[in-house]
Amino acid sequence: MPSQATAFGPGRVNLIGEHTDYNAGLALPFAISEGVTVRAAARDDRRIEAVAADLGERDSFSLGGADSGEGWRAFVRGAVGELARAGVALRGADLEISGTVPRGAGLSSSAALEVALVLALLFVSDVPEPDRLELARLCSRIENDWVGAQTGLLDQIASLCGSADRALLVDFRTLDVQPVVLELGNFKLVTLDSGEEHTHAGSGYNQRRAECAQAADRLRAASLRETTLETASGLPEPLSLRARHVITENERVRQAVKALERRDMLELGRLLDASHASLRDCYEVSTPAVEEAVARCKEAGALGARIMGGGFGGSVLALLAPAAVAPSGSVEVRPGPGAWAAVS
Ligand code: GLA
Repeated sequence: MPSQATAFGPGRVNLIGEHTDYNAGLALPFAISEGVTVRAAARDDRRIEAVAADLGERDSFSLGGADSGEGWRAFVRGAVGELARAGVALRGADLEISGTVPRGAGLSSSAALEVALVLALLFVSDVPEPDRLELARLCSRIENDWVGAQTGLLDQIASLCGSADRALLVDFRTLDVQPVVLELGNFKLVTLDSGEEHTHAGSGYNQRRAECAQAADRLRAASLRETTLETASGLPEPLSLRARHVITENERVRQAVKALERRDMLELGRLLDASHASLRDCYEVSTPAVEEAVARCKEAGALGARIMGGGFGGSVLALLAPAAVAPSGSVEVRPGPGAWAAVS
């Protein structure tokens, strides 16, 4: 039985396909090289002793029955609680958590944390890893039921299934995941933090999700994936606008895959801009700080730039042509491998 394990959960960038995951739609995310590392050492008792190294904070609870906690503690307690609920026989462990992905910046620090925690706990308890889509669902329950954010499966699938030089075309109706070659040549993808920290549980995210469910209900559809612009146009506002975003965004994902196949970066940039306009005007998840970050990317000559992730702050993603000078403070992102765990 390994007495020490290290697990890494990467953050993610979503190239395009925003707020489509919980609408049974399409998205094109990839895992990045920044993420969260959890080092686990088995204990002889049935306690979890966790340290958030970057925050200098601790948590301590018994495997038997932890209540939910606040902030990062909710993730640790949720990981243990959900694994126990899935019937996994966990060992007590010391956990040390550290990260390189900024929190609340739209790069999915939350999924990176859930994924790294769950893999470290499984590994140190010598429990074989279940199917990765199964794990993605388990991680998303941590976020839904312990953290209070009704997020979908986008971030967890990207973190768990990522692959170097590939984006993932995810169909959330079937959970089919297809790698798509992401060869940018001398073009660059960068993220620029708007400086506005967001939390899904505390933003309008849950409200947007409820509006989409309401729109689908009114159209007597299982999800917005089954609806058309024509039928959605009969909905009252803001539901018609929310549906318009989701329906057109699914189409932009399909077009982005084709643009990548043709290596047509101008078209990819145009799609990023169109996605941003839709997220700003129809989905209404942008903020003045985000608009400023998008404007800075466009001034730097970006072929396209858009708000990324849950919205209401966080980071902007921009596609830069080879000659463009990246805006100061931006960080280049490339697709990297998915989460891993190993004996340490
Ligand atoms: C957050 C959520 C995801 C997804 C995006 C928006 O990142 O965690 O499930 O809904 O927002 O595309």
